[in-house]
Amino acid sequence: MTEFNARYLKDYLPSDFSINTIDLTFELDDNKTKVTSVMSISKNTSEANKIILNGEQLKLIAVYYNDTALNASEYQVDDDSLSFLIKDNECTVKIVTEIDPENNTSLEGLFKSGGAFCTQCEAEGFRRITYYLDRPDVMAKFTTKVIADKNLYPYLLSNGNKIDSGDLNNNRHFVTWEDPFLKPCYLFALVAGDFDLLQDSYKTTSGRDVRLEIFVDKGNKTKAHHAMASLKHSMRWDEDTFGLEYDLDIYMIVAVDFFNMGAMENKGLNVFNSKFVLADKETATDTDYFNVEAVIAHEYFHNWTGNRVTCRDWFQLSLKEGLTVFRDQQFSADMHSAAVTRIKNVRVMRAQQFSEDAGPMSHPIRPEKVVEMNNFYTLTVYEKGSEVIRMLHTLLGKDKFRQGLDLYFQRFDGQAVTCDDFVTAMADAAKIDLILFKRWYSQSGTPIVKVEESFNTNSGEYQINLSQLTLPTKDQATKYALHIPIAIELINNEGTQSHLLELKSDNQQWRFSGFHEKPTLGFLANFSAPVKVDFEQSNSDLAIIMTSAKDKFLRWDAGQKLFSNTISQIITDTNYQIPAELIDILATQLCDNSDPALIAEQFTLPNFHELVEQFKPINPIKLVDALDKLKLFIAKGLEKQLLSIYQALADKPYLNNAQSIGDRALKNMSLSYLVLLPEHHDLVKRQYLTSDNMTDALAALQSSATQTVESFDAMMASFEQRWENTTLVMDKWFSLQAAYKGSNIFERLKNLTEHSLFSLKNPNRARSLIGAFAQNNSRYFHCETGRGYQFLADQICSLNAINPQVASRLITALIQYQDFDEYRQNLMKSQLERIAILPNLSKDLKEKLDAAL
Ligand code: ARG
Ligand code: ZN
Repeated sequence: MTEFNARYLKDYLPSDFSINTIDLTFELDDNKTKVTSVMSISKNTSEANKIILNGEQLKLIAVYYNDTALNASEYQVDDDSLSFLIKDNECTVKIVTEIDPENNTSLEGLFKSGGAFCTQCEAEGFRRITYYLDRPDVMAKFTTKVIADKNLYPYLLSNGNKIDSGDLNNNRHFVTWEDPFLKPCYLFALVAGDFDLLQDSYKTTSGRDVRLEIFVDKGNKTKAHHAMASLKHSMRWDEDTFGLEYDLDIYMIVAVDFFNMGAMENKGLNVFNSKFVLADKETATDTDYFNVEAVIAHEYFHNWTGNRVTCRDWFQLSLKEGLTVFRDQQFSADMHSAAVTRIKNVRVMRAQQFSEDAGPMSHPIRPEKVVEMNNFYTLTVYEKGSEVIRMLHTLLGKDKFRQGLDLYFQRFDGQAVTCDDFVTAMADAAKIDLILFKRWYSQSGTPIVKVEESFNTNSGEYQINLSQLTLPTKDQATKYALHIPIAIELINNEGTQSHLLELKSDNQQWRFSGFHEKPTLGFLANFSAPVKVDFEQSNSDLAIIMTSAKDKFLRWDAGQKLFSNTISQIITDTNYQIPAELIDILATQLCDNSDPALIAEQFTLPNFHELVEQFKPINPIKLVDALDKLKLFIAKGLEKQLLSIYQALADKPYLNNAQSIGDRALKNMSLSYLVLLPEHHDLVKRQYLTSDNMTDALAALQSSATQTVESFDAMMASFEQRWENTTLVMDKWFSLQAAYKGSNIFERLKNLTEHSLFSLKNPNRARSLIGAFAQNNSRYFHCETGRGYQFLADQICSLNAINPQVASRLITALIQYQDFDEYRQNLMKSQLERIAILPNLSKDLKEKLDAAL
């Protein structure tokens, strides 16, 4: 078995060499693309002599040192490097390599997506293109000449500005691009293909005209308008909010169907998974629209937080990702309901990040040890990273935060820096001490904050005691107290007070005076810190918060607690009668019709994964049963109200604005309850047949993906027929099939993996079927026979050879086995052991299996 070495943050050393310029020439060919790289290299220290360039899956053709070809005895080449002596302080090195894009199913480096060539270099994919110092602190000026057949590849794109183009022999042509900004090679991109092009322009505040170009598959141009509008909104927002303008004359986005991630912020040439570009009302849901806008914004915002200032090394990934996620979340909150946007962020933290942080791959937002970097594009680095930036924003306030960000750019523009540099800039600008706060970067695990309160009726003094505890994690046995900003509300008849408490040690007390009666505590307003809260509150206190808190997040969260308290009772006591008062409390929420999207969130029960995180280790089937029971109870208890809401909204015309989106969310939430009552099954069929938009059609199908709704298969067949040529829509169909709650699910899954549109080579397809099954079909994924785990493990075994990154994402559902009962833990572990003995186990899977087993 190959041994893979871990790399450690503590071992960081600056590079011995700089690469100042690199001139690349690509002669594109499906199986034999020739890459010629000419680099000007200089020594950073006089002792430097041997250069070790990274390179994988490359065929080396020739190496030249100052124009003289090196013979085989003058260099060493192995599976992952090329090394030779550098005698001069400055020299020119030319390297010619050959690569095979068509057979590159890992989708890292240069690969083919449909008929087009494209690249993905982050984190370490550039070394699959040519030998290079593939590390983010080596920044060079890139010039790229692309040569290809003129008919097949009319568009030849790379970073920066087009400086030359022309025709060549054999019906070929070329384009040369020059990127004036120094950049690390992970931001390099090349695309060649035939596309439809949507063009627009944007004028920055300071008067620069920017050409905006979105390239999509032929026939999809009308689906690119939402992406274009989103791009322009993002550019305006970043100028208005942070004073940050775009810096090149052209900004290009290319949508491709084969992509491991959401998108990539390559300088001036973003490459996107087509899922996050294409949208129109027939094919995209309101959620898709939201996500397209958010990902477009995210990649655009990276131009400053990522490209202009980049990471010194990959351990610092959250420097750019946490900050950029925070920026895109703020943007989305400004473009939509801020409360609903925040609720969605928090659900991701609670359902997925908390569990990652408690599992075998637990790591701080700045990891200290990495085997395969691709394994660290995690919810922890991204989402918890964003929560850490948000805490800074809360502690500093909006204005000081802005000053801190200004100082950060003033100090570090054009450099590759660390998370420490960022926090220091914030502390210096705001003139506050963030030494303790920095511990969030080095400590993994979710802190638990325990709340105790007391009230002295005689003095009118109210006291809160807070204590914090972070449990040991796989990577760290000892934990310390963190600096935790905690926003609270003290709710009473005389007016609600808001306070920000800064918890900085294991235990702390606060006193508030002047109350006539005990106030009700609304704890962790706006989810001011990524923590779990240990606080018993009565249903009547929760009901007060639900109606009276100023912070909408607190109102929603109190409702969620009410749900999870109820579910916990159902699980522990089989004779438990859900109290009728629950229906009364919920009914009050249906009356307020100011924000329909928020009501829809208030009626969305905590999902399976959020609850697992609260009750683990748990028998998952008991949890699924309890959720079903509560949902049915609410459906029965509120049938009349839900039906009248549904009917009032059912025939409203489709509009693409906040009110209409909110109305659809509320209507479809009502439908998801009504469908539990057989007398309303006709509603889903009617909605499916009459809907003129994907949101409503999909909601009807989602509500009926159970064995009890007979029309499901017929609707699915009609959906398939209508959309068989639109793969992004067929992904929704595969996901719906995967979520089917019927005991013949395993036969269905087998047929689906043999469906003519299914392929493990396409990451979207793999995720839409296999990922969706593991994630959304908890009843059958966790079924007693173990067939669910076996199905997932079988697919991971196939994917190991095809696309290790996708395999490694999908294994998450199995490595977090510690969340479940012992019986299931054993079933899951035996599947992991089966994967662990694969002959060519990838580094990606190996790292996770070593941690889990
Ligand atoms: N930087 C990209 C983004 O956040 C993600 C690239 C992820 N690449 C990877 N190989 N994991 O937008
Ligand atoms: Zn990013």
